[in-house]
Amino acid sequence: MCKFVISGGQALKGELTVSGSKNAALPIIAAAILAEGPCTIENIPDIADVQSMLDILRKLGADIDELGNNTIRIDAAKVASHEATFDLVSTLRGSYYLIGAFLARFGRAIVSLPGGCKLGTRPIDQHLKGFQALGVDVEEAYGKVTANAVSEDGLLRANNIYLDVVSVGATINLMLAACKAVGQTVIENCAREPHVVDVANFLNSMGAKIRGAGTDIIKITGVPRLHGVEMYSIIPDQIEAGTYMIAAAATGGDVTIRNIIPRHQESLTAKLQEMNIGVEEGEDWIRIYDSGKVSVANVKTLPYPGFPTDMQPQITVLLSQADGTSKITESVTDFRFQYTEELKRMGADITVNGKMAMVSGPKCLKGTIVRTPDLRGGAALVIAALMAEGDTVIQDVQIIDRGYDNIVGKLRHVGARIERVEDDN
Ligand code: EPU
Repeated sequence: MCKFVISGGQALKGELTVSGSKNAALPIIAAAILAEGPCTIENIPDIADVQSMLDILRKLGADIDELGNNTIRIDAAKVASHEATFDLVSTLRGSYYLIGAFLARFGRAIVSLPGGCKLGTRPIDQHLKGFQALGVDVEEAYGKVTANAVSEDGLLRANNIYLDVVSVGATINLMLAACKAVGQTVIENCAREPHVVDVANFLNSMGAKIRGAGTDIIKITGVPRLHGVEMYSIIPDQIEAGTYMIAAAATGGDVTIRNIIPRHQESLTAKLQEMNIGVEEGEDWIRIYDSGKVSVANVKTLPYPGFPTDMQPQITVLLSQADGTSKITESVTDFRFQYTEELKRMGADITVNGKMAMVSGPKCLKGTIVRTPDLRGGAALVIAALMAEGDTVIQDVQIIDRGYDNIVGKLRHVGARIERVEDDN
């Protein structure tokens, strides 16, 4: 167990660089199971979730070389098992991508059900419905998914799939499963997140035929084999970038964030401008600077290109400094407001009612002891601590390490007073 000790009140100033995208890296590592040769991938973030996914592949028999400079080579030729047991996958929700990858490679999969952040019920019925449409017999029971292609040749059969819910996980999992299916699969009502496009690009660089990623209709023409990849570079992490943009704004700082795709940040950039925060952008950087008083704003989370649910906790912290009341509506996950209880202990004025929160400000936040409820809730507490008066202790920060590469080093680089301490309790 680890904690952060943060002394607030310091305006962040300088430059920091964003790492590769967690939610692209996890399925891309799983996708490497489909290649008949080695895949070299760069801009891999050094985070706990990625290490967990690499460990799973190693235990399945893959050779993984860490080549330095955030680059890895995965050779999955020796993977012979289509089974990922609970001890392998328990902490990692992204491990459900192994179902799609195993189905495409072996025509069968046994994968224990995922862990990850507690954000409500988070069913995977759309993944399972899609696999069934591709000619797979699926059973979800006793905490695991067992899936078997019904055809004698073990290959999946293309089909038309309409997703009832816009789901990043289902869209990517079905792309994985369908890329070696016989015929053309059409998935409608797809998620359009940048990481969906990144996974499609990676699979296409292996020889897959996927068109339309980034729109709500994706067409996949199955191919018999997929080859290795000489070099693929993962996109920058949209949510890590957004978290530092808000940290800069919340501390009244002036920070230039590099290795960023400004188009991916548009919903956040527009909201920050509406809130009177200074934003300047170039080809691969965004500068955030304080332009005065934070204005109130209403925020509603939506699938991309809407405002990301993964940025909802962080923007709520910033809105606690606005003069007046802002409304935050969560419409992607079932429940994502646990962090508000911790924020209230720091002095924030927040009322949660179902999927809506009202935050009134400006409130002076004060340092105290708080606990990380989930990954992005933890990031929000870090931002709150950076702007609070006095010292804040944030417990259970190993949850934050799941998704933020070197958060302590990066924040210290722009002037934050943050330390990681081993927690004896
Ligand atoms: N849903 C269903 N059925 C399904 C799939 C989804 O009802 O079969 C509903 C659930 O209510 C779920 C919502 O749709 O909460 C969104 O699901 P989606 O599949 O889009 O999300 P996910 O795969 O559970 C991924 C990210 C999350 C991120 C969401 C939304 C990974 C490993 N996780 O989760 O990331 O919040 O997409 O963008 O990629 C995080 O990084 O902190 C994180 C939680």
